[in-house]
Amino acid sequence: MPFLMRKLAVILLSSLFSISVCYADITLPAPQMKDGMSLFEALKKRSSTPAGDFPVGQLSDDELSTVLWAASGLNRGKSGWTVPMVKGKAPYVRIYVASQKGVFRYEWEGQYLREISNKDIRADIGQQSFTRRAAYALIFVPDSEAFGDMDAAKANNFANIAVGAMSQNIYLTAAALKLSARYIHSIKSDVISDELKLPENSKAIGMILLGK
Ligand SMILES: Cc1cc2nc3c(=O)[nH]c(=O)nc-3n(C[C@H](O)[C@H](O)[C@H](O)COP(=O)(O)O)c2cc1C
Repeated sequence: MPFLMRKLAVILLSSLFSISVCYADITLPAPQMKDGMSLFEALKKRSSTPAGDFPVGQLSDDELSTVLWAASGLNRGKSGWTVPMVKGKAPYVRIYVASQKGVFRYEWEGQYLREISNKDIRADIGQQSFTRRAAYALIFVPDSEAFGDMDAAKANNFANIAVGAMSQNIYLTAAALKLSARYIHSIKSDVISDELKLPENSKAIGMILLGK
């Protein structure tokens, strides 16, 4: 093959490869929205899995999808969510998912995971070493653009209230699906900002570990 043709073939192949790496988003299966354990049974079972007993098992995609939907999915057409958002705004706390496969952002519009990177950061983001064992770390990050010119302290309170509601939905869903969960506030916020490629004025609040 002449030199120019060979060079063109290499460029074409490498650009095809980089396209496939860039677009490794994950489509989630439809979440479970009916049947299963009753709400009252789940309330009776809700608990944080002890740190020392946190299991290393993997969740199915169905289970992950259901937990993410419970945390901030659409539940009433195109603009109603499973957790309350001030003035009915779109979710202003985003969930990033750290797993063995990499880092993703949960997109409630379309129920899929948008790839941020293919790096496994689970061992780097918590201040306690057991956090690396969890199949998933769901990291809560406020959307710094969502509140416009609202007073920063007030916006921060609203974001924290959203994290509380999202966390409890995750805890109850984990109980209903017999998964392990634990809220973790002792995170390495600067590492998370770098790995999630967050804008300068945006910082993670905490994370929930999920396992089985
Ligand atoms: C605001 C908050 C911060 C927490 N931070 C951590 C943490 O950094 N590390 C940890 O192992 N557990 C953490 N937890 C989990 C608590 O230790 C756990 O929820 C508490 O022991 C009560 O247990 P229960 O959820 O089973 O009722 C946190 C919980 C809350 C509500």
